[in-house]
Amino acid sequence: MKKVNNIAVLTSGGDAPGMNAAIRAVVRTGLYHHLNVFGVMYGYKGMLTGEIFPMESKSVANIIQRGGTVLKTARCKEFYEADGRKKAYENLKKFGIDGLVVIGGDGSFKGAQKFSQEFDIPCIGLPGTIDKDIAGSDFTIGFDTAVNTAVEAIDKIRDTADAHDRLFIIEVMGRDAGYIALHSGIATGAEHILMPERKTDIDDVINDLMANERRQKMVNLIVVAEGDEFGGANEVARHVKERMPQLDTRVCILGHIQRGGSPTCIDRLIASRMGYAAVDALMEGTHNVMIGIVNNKIQYTPLDKAVKAKQKIDPEWFKIVKILAS
Ligand code: F6P
Repeated sequence: MKKVNNIAVLTSGGDAPGMNAAIRAVVRTGLYHHLNVFGVMYGYKGMLTGEIFPMESKSVANIIQRGGTVLKTARCKEFYEADGRKKAYENLKKFGIDGLVVIGGDGSFKGAQKFSQEFDIPCIGLPGTIDKDIAGSDFTIGFDTAVNTAVEAIDKIRDTADAHDRLFIIEVMGRDAGYIALHSGIATGAEHILMPERKTDIDDVINDLMANERRQKMVNLIVVAEGDEFGGANEVARHVKERMPQLDTRVCILGHIQRGGSPTCIDRLIASRMGYAAVDALMEGTHNVMIGIVNNKIQYTPLDKAVKAKQKIDPEWFKIVKILAS
């Protein structure tokens, strides 16, 4: 017997490519099981303002390939207050909603966790963030697209770096996680990757650049995660310029282009699988878990454990960087 009849879906926090594919999967799987499916605009904010509307199959036509989110997104402070959550609950109840799918990052899951403890609405989280910083899933929706965008951009930077014999210090997103830097740095053959999960001795970087200069290796790429210990690419460049003013050094901050664009096949695929699994979970009466994919299998993680994962990076990754860039 199904445990829910009327479910709602929302996107919350920073958008990530593949969110639309996840919304589509939730809506179409819900309809397939004869559930009523509602969309909530602007994340938790829409729950507070009552921007909730019924969705049909055609509401999600032609969106699987689109970046951003058709449900829009927001970060909503009011929802973190008890009064805000009560208002949100009352609005959901007006529509008879008895199950909620939240697509977002760990901040959004904290909100969902609190909400579901206070009220009788089970919440299922789907990890939607380019940062890949959530425990309980090998990949998050949006990460693969963001990394591919970064790789494409860094390849282009390499062309111009090569033409001018320049050092480029490139900053990528990730908030306080370095996965975009690590993956894009290896995939573009960067000489150094600076990320918050690993301490960097700036002297090592400088010594390496000096050794490269001696052997006339003039094109050098350093990929820096925005959350690194130095405070981003400009600060790293300041250190380098102080010690090696003769180097022709440029900084490029990739910024929000990493959040946009058509999702890759992998992001569409994981979003579709996770969206489908979220409806399954609600129908079987599972409460308050995040749907992840681990070793290519769907895995449930309790929402309170689906928090920022600050993992130790296996030193082998950095050995690879060093050996391949030598
Ligand atoms: O969490 C996704 C992310 O893009 C981070 O990588 C980045 O630090 C942050 O969001 C930027 O947030 P905003 O779009 O609010 O500036």
